[in-house]
Amino acid sequence: MTRVVVLLGPPGAGKGTQAARLAAAMALPHVSTGDLFRAHLSRGTELGKEAQRYMEAGELVPDELVLDMLFERVAKEDCREGYLLDGFPRTLAQAEALEARLGEEVARCAVLIDVPDEEIVARMAGRLTCEQCGAVYHRRNDPPKVEGRCDRCGGTLIQRPDDREDVVRERLGVYRRQTTPVVEFYRAKGVLREVDGRRSPDAVFADLQAVLGGCF
Ligand code: AP5
Repeated sequence: MTRVVVLLGPPGAGKGTQAARLAAAMALPHVSTGDLFRAHLSRGTELGKEAQRYMEAGELVPDELVLDMLFERVAKEDCREGYLLDGFPRTLAQAEALEARLGEEVARCAVLIDVPDEEIVARMAGRLTCEQCGAVYHRRNDPPKVEGRCDRCGGTLIQRPDDREDVVRERLGVYRRQTTPVVEFYRAKGVLREVDGRRSPDAVFADLQAVLGGCF
């Protein structure tokens, strides 16, 4: 059975952190549209350059650029048994395009990881991201073993340009306006589950595993 997990939640809710753990536990690939854009940017592609100006302003990249890139990724062989989506869909048009592509025979579950805005702003101020492999750390909550170096690949840890407080607040506004309708879309379909993202990463992971165990 093909399984598709959609992780929803505001920027900084912990989608990427949890997707990496779930991917290992469920043996499914972690597909993040943000990571796909950042990979394009580091390769210097036209798509990466086009996406960069939206990302740095905290705005969404236009749907047409997102959809082609995402569908190309999930058409790859490693996604045959399913995949974990992180950061997609973010608009109703994206959600509808995904539904149309999946059809009836694919099992799906959408999980909302929710965290209040003020906690998010504090989290983002401390987030460190590996320039090379995208692994995520936090200065206080989840520090790397060696300061400034990725535990996984030894790459350099940086603060993402869109983690500045003013950009984070803009991203939160965009989330409320454009992505909240996606949450309601899945709720109306009866496939939405919710977990409290304010708890520790281990507690959130345990909740996610329990919720997903009930979905598939
Ligand atoms: P994207 O990269 O998807 O960013 P995001 O959704 O805004 O999410 P983040 O990666 O910022 O946060 P996260 O929820 O993954 O949290 P994390 O685990 O890192 O998108 C970036 C941009 O790309 C968008 O703004 C847009 O421009 C564009 N884009 C991407 N997809 C698009 C789409 N579909 N359509 C249009 N445009 C698109 O955790 C955050 C921090 O908190 C870390 O430091 C972590 O260590 C820490 N942490 C995690 N969990 C906990 C916990 N439980 N307790 C305490 N700290 C925690």
